[in-house]
Amino acid sequence: MKIAFVEPSRFSTGNVAVMVAEDRKLLPTAKALDKQTKGALKRAMGASRFTGKKGQTLSIMAPSGTRVDRITLVGVGKPGDIDMLAAEAIGASLVVDANGAAQKALVVVVDLPDGAKIATEEFSARVALGGKLRSYRFDKYRTKEKPDAKPTVDTLSVAVKGSAAAQRRYAVIGKAADAVFFTRDLVAEPANVIYPESLAARCKELSKFGCKVEVLGEAAMKKLGMGALLGVGQGSVRESQLVVMSWMGGPKGQKPVSLVGKGVCFDTGGISIKPAGGMEDMKWDMGGAAAVIGAMHLLSARKAKVNVVGVVGLVENMPSGNAQRPGDVVTSMSGQTIEVINTDAEGRLVLADALWYTQKTHNPQAIVDLATLTGAIVIALGHEYAGMFANNDDLANKLSAAGEKSGEKVWRLPLGENYNKEINSDIADMKNVGSGRGAGSITAAQFLERFIIGRTPWAHLDIAAMAWSNKDLPTSPKGATAYGVRLLNRLISDNYEAKE
Ligand code: BES
Ligand code: MN
Ligand code: ZN
Repeated sequence: MKIAFVEPSRFSTGNVAVMVAEDRKLLPTAKALDKQTKGALKRAMGASRFTGKKGQTLSIMAPSGTRVDRITLVGVGKPGDIDMLAAEAIGASLVVDANGAAQKALVVVVDLPDGAKIATEEFSARVALGGKLRSYRFDKYRTKEKPDAKPTVDTLSVAVKGSAAAQRRYAVIGKAADAVFFTRDLVAEPANVIYPESLAARCKELSKFGCKVEVLGEAAMKKLGMGALLGVGQGSVRESQLVVMSWMGGPKGQKPVSLVGKGVCFDTGGISIKPAGGMEDMKWDMGGAAAVIGAMHLLSARKAKVNVVGVVGLVENMPSGNAQRPGDVVTSMSGQTIEVINTDAEGRLVLADALWYTQKTHNPQAIVDLATLTGAIVIALGHEYAGMFANNDDLANKLSAAGEKSGEKVWRLPLGENYNKEINSDIADMKNVGSGRGAGSITAAQFLERFIIGRTPWAHLDIAAMAWSNKDLPTSPKGATAYGVRLLNRLISDNYEAKE
């Protein structure tokens, strides 16, 4: 679906969406169309529940008095209702609506009510971005789909006075859509296509934006002593990889922010094998890594004025004659030993070495890891918030604020010494699961914290409930969400990036 910005014109054809404020107050373009169609818009409103509330839509087919094929009224609510996320949701729902009505050209005419708290060009660009994000579709493996079953909208045009300014704004924020789509594709791909080496190869594509991409194979990781990560991958015929992506767009000498991702390309559970039902979901157990890769994509594509290092640990967790056994003891790069009680608690083992490596080689000012780490976080928070754990209030607050603004929300959960004790082992420095049955997401975070050096500000985001959605979301169709890409971008742009 293409995006265009045009000057408003009353003579457009196609599906024209016009804005209505709360209490059925037609905004100027809607008013003009109502006149042209001899009151069709008002009559349609009167015969429906449409009141102009934020996000409502109502369509009229083939109205007379105009060449427009279909008029869609869209509610923008009260002047104070509209923010960036609301604008994105409006763009998204109009695209869904037009696709449902087999429309090809969707024109959204921007009219904001007096007193709206968002600039017209920002609103316009967000409508376009929301529409674009919602238009995502992973259909490369459908060979038999009839053309009439496919989405029809080929162009979303935003018609607004001063379209050039909106266009310029979209040139900046629209880059998020490319990064989100990149991440969604990686997450949606099956594990016979995306495995550690092929995912590392996809990371290399970021070099076209000037992002430096380094790949470490098993030999290099063995030299570094990454026994925890390598133990997870040892049952797989696929070679484990560690990918380091650096974007140094910030001041010389600025310590980097580092982003670390869990990249388990498939998680069978290993010898502690998972039940068959739903196991296919574990192709997206690399969602943390994919979010980090997408964030690096976006930061480097938009030439962010910041130094950022993204590190992803890529493995496949398989049972085999060579797989790690429950009870095995591995030595991590940090030198700490780990008793692997459950081979299905593998993400923390991968992150242990990736986190240690990142701190040792890049001395970051802050480190954020993302991982589809525990089923328990789904039970605790559902699909509304990612779980956040942090050793630093300032970083936690920055992430919470970035979550609210980007719509990719996080909710902080506690860490503490009594939880930490749960992972003490009788024969090694720690074990990879807690003794009790409770607080599985917290004990997992405690495990990670043991690999944070000194007071390095660190936050862990457990995104197990967020990386994939079984239902459509406002700007993300059912499937891979790319949760984290926009959150990390927001965190960095609001807090770490040098301002012009
Ligand atoms: N990848 C899973 C967590 C997961 C579960 C992600 C559901 C997405 C949806 C992780 O590796 C795992 O298996 N965790 C175990 C830990 C347990 C063995 C302590 C879990 O949550 O059951
Ligand atoms: Mn697992
Ligand atoms: Zn896993």
